[in-house]
Amino acid sequence: MIVTLRETTSTNDYAKKLAGCDVESFTTVVAHKQTAGKGRLGRSFDSPEDDGIYMSIIIYPDMKPEAVSAITIVAAMSVKNALVKVLEEVVSEESGQGGDKASDALRIKWPNDIVTCGKKICGILTEASMSGGTVKYMVVGIGVNVNNDSFADGLDDKAISLKQLSGQTFDKKGIIDEIISSFKKYYAIYEQKQNLQFMIDEYNASLVHTGMQVNILNGADSFQGICEGVDETGALVVRQQEHAEVTRVISGEVSVRGVYGYV
Ligand code: BTN
Repeated sequence: MIVTLRETTSTNDYAKKLAGCDVESFTTVVAHKQTAGKGRLGRSFDSPEDDGIYMSIIIYPDMKPEAVSAITIVAAMSVKNALVKVLEEVVSEESGQGGDKASDALRIKWPNDIVTCGKKICGILTEASMSGGTVKYMVVGIGVNVNNDSFADGLDDKAISLKQLSGQTFDKKGIIDEIISSFKKYYAIYEQKQNLQFMIDEYNASLVHTGMQVNILNGADSFQGICEGVDETGALVVRQQEHAEVTRVISGEVSVRGVYGYV
């Protein structure tokens, strides 16, 4: 079921209320506009009317608690593939040929931003409700820059839309359906296996930082190292020096930056 709203503060907050009423798994809240869209690490997510997709998918993870955090990685992989598919469709319709390199440009910035040309095209915020050590429900909030021609003050350097990337205008409903279907497919496998082994190579091949020097920022603390990709739990593996032990960086308060700029 898809619940469509003209406007809400945050589709994640609306979805959390619905999840408390035990609506069915994969119920999705979509809004044309958010007045208080939320990003990771307490940031806000600019959500102008109609240009973007603002959606939250409700799930009830039936898995060991320590497996829940990697759902954010599963979400990134599935949304990235959905966006690649819709980009390939418009490019091949336009050129009459099979998909073109525009779609290869999409990459994942750990844990779950989707980036291209050094800018963010999609952000994901997962939020879980815990009770007595188990997860009651989780909402997977997805914001995609779709038909934006520009962004609010200061964001043009950091954000890009599918339209700016491809020169085409997109039907948002088709993208929403593709995202839900891709997420259902990956999530079904993850829920059964409860580790990322089945998609780890695909994820690491999509990761913008694999093999590159990164800055790991945790409040006032930071360190640099070479990013070796994620392990089967979704932790980012960073080697600080050649032959040195690796550090496993857990998603949460940490953010990762390439040594140059936003990505
Ligand atoms: C990020 O970039 O840090 C994550 C952004 C997540 C934005 C989406 S839009 C739909 C859902 N509702 C929210 O308030 N946030 C997520």
